[in-house]
Order: sequence, then C-alpha cells, then structure tokens
Amino acid sequence: MDSSESVHPALAADLELRGLVAGRLTDERREALIEVEAERIRRTIASGGWAMANPAGVALVANLIWDTEHFGEPSADLRRLYLSPEADPSAIAELLNAVLAHCKTLGIKRYSARVLPASAIALNLLIAQHGFRLVDTSLEIGNARPPVGDIGGGRWPAETAQVADIEQLVKLSHAFTDNRFYRDPAIATQLARGVYEKWVSAATQAGELLCVRDAGQCVGLCTTRQIDLATTPFGLIGLVIVAPAYRGRGVFDALLDGARRALCPDGESALVSSTQLNNVAAQRAFARHGLYPFAARHVLHRSSSQTS
Ligand SMILES: CC(C)(COP(=O)(O)OP(=O)(O)OC[C@H]1O[C@@H](n2cnc3c(N)ncnc32)[C@H](O)[C@@H]1OP(=O)(O)O)[C@@H](O)C(=O)NCCC(=O)NCCS
Repeated sequence: MDSSESVHPALAADLELRGLVAGRLTDERREALIEVEAERIRRTIASGGWAMANPAGVALVANLIWDTEHFGEPSADLRRLYLSPEADPSAIAELLNAVLAHCKTLGIKRYSARVLPASAIALNLLIAQHGFRLVDTSLEIGNARPPVGDIGGGRWPAETAQVADIEQLVKLSHAFTDNRFYRDPAIATQLARGVYEKWVSAATQAGELLCVRDAGQCVGLCTTRQIDLATTPFGLIGLVIVAPAYRGRGVFDALLDGARRALCPDGESALVSSTQLNNVAAQRAFARHGLYPFAARHVLHRSSSQTS
C-alpha cells in the first residue's frame, strides 16, 4: 500500500490511540488517527515490511532485522491485522493463508503476531491452523495529557545512565523474566536474556535510559524514547525494571517522575507504555502516574521447530 492508494476501510476498525482521546471521537480526530495507522503502514514498508489486503482487512508484516540477527533465523512480525468488524470468517482465513504463504516464499522461519482480543477468529486460526502459540497479552497504557510534577518524593533521583553503567544495567535486566521471550519454550534462556541485555545497552548508548542508584549501584532502570508519528508525537516508556531487593520502596516512582519530566515536561504530549496483562504490580504503579489501559493485544510466536 503506498500513499497514493486510498485508505482501506478496515483501518478505522483499529484506532489504537483512540483510548488516549478524552471525550467523543470527532470525525476530525478519527481522520487523524486513521492517518496515524496509514503512516505506521508506510513506515513499516519503508523498513522492509509489506502489507496485504482483501475485503476482510489489511495485514501488516514487519521485517524483523534485529530479531533475524539475534535469533539467527529470518524473522517477521504480523504487526497489525486491521479487520472490518463485519469481515467474513472465510475471508479472514484467506487473508492469513495468503500472508503466511508469502512469508514462506520469503524464507521466514520465526514469527511473532499481535492480535486484538476482538479478533477471536484470527487468533484461533493462527493457533489452530498455523501453529502459533500464545505467549503474552500486552496491555497498552497511556495518557494524552499525563500529570505534571513529581510524586516520588525525591528520595531516589533518576539520572541518565552512562556507558560505564552498562555492565550493571545488563545484570539488572536479568531481573525481568516474566515476559514473552522467557515464556516461549522454543527460545533458549540465554537468547531470551540477550534480548534485554542488548535493549538496555543500546538504550544507554543512545542516551535513552534513566537509572536510579543506591550507593553507586544501579537499582532501577527505565528506557525512554520520543516518537514523532505524523499528527501525534508521543513519549514512549519501554522497559522498567527495579532490582528485587528495592521493590516497594519508591524506585518506580522516581523512574516515572524522571521519564515524565524528560518526555512531556509540560504535560502537553501523550505518554504511552505497555505491560503484561498479568503484571498487576506494574499496572498499579503506572496508574499512580496517570497511565491507564487503552488497548490489549494477544502476542503469539511461531518458530521453525513448529513450521510445517
Ligand atoms: C513492576 C516493578 C517495576 C514495580 O517496581 P516497584 O518500585 O516495586 O513499584 P511499587 O513500589 O509501585 O510496587 C508495585 C507493587 O508491588 C508491591 N511490592 C511491594 N514490595 C514488593 C516486593 N518486595 N516485591 C514485589 N512487589 C512488591 C507494591 O506493594 C506495589 O503493589 P501495590 O500497588 O498493591 O501496593 C517491579 O516490580 C519490577 O521490576 N518487576 C519486574 C520487571 C517488570 O515487570 N517491569 C514492568 C514491565 S515493563
């Protein structure tokens, strides 16, 4: 799909940032959100992905360059399945069949997929017909106007981590194990651990990681990124980890205070993050900072050992 094509009507069925808009969704705001999704498609295609459409909807597949290198197998992500609410089940099945057949011709061996709970037909087809397994349900959270001001009390001031901190941060990243990579039995623990080790290293090198220290040791970390998506610029909090011995002591609040200050100091730009549906501790902590759920997505994996 390029920018000269008309926008598929199914895009309007999945307005991901809709939950961030207070009050009724005006036609103007709806158009803006459809444009965000159209831009997501253009950007994914520009970085080696592709899209396929039929009357049921649009499937957007991203080329996972980082995963391909890390896991040593060609990897792709069925990132979005925009389905018309009245889509015929057989048309949904045809779309999935065509997408996965095309992936096969491209030599894809590892897959991830994200499916809205409302798309139960697609979810069941991916699991029952295509050998995907459910590894997580991701809860997307945010606020169009996050609260301004600190709530952490300043006991643990957050600061931008330095390259010299990477060894400590990598060790701290091992404290996060209840996630889709560790849960997937087809992924070796060392490779799952490597995902977070590389994530915190790259974020530190990019100046996008805040940390909290105690006696010189990093005891909490939080990745931050500014995203400039068409009409909707927003701040993204990626990963938050607190060392087990420091949980329940205000470190999360210090990290979030720092992240809100860095990403939306005046509360004028949206702030988004995500966590696992089962991670109630994180959800309660994010809620204290005004970040509430706006979408949930089932996350599925399939690997070469399951590929027919
Ligand atoms: C989620 C997490 C970042 C919260 O950090 P924190 O600094 O402990 O945050 P809080 O102090 O707000 O505590 C969160 C909840 O855990 C509870 N808690 C208290 N002490 C705890 C302890 N020793 N161990 C675990 N949880 C504890 C708190 O009471 C709070 O629950 P409540 O809201 O019902 O009171 C931390 O638990 C963690 O690092 N978990 C692993 C990584 C992770 O899941 N990250 C989020 C996904 S990106």
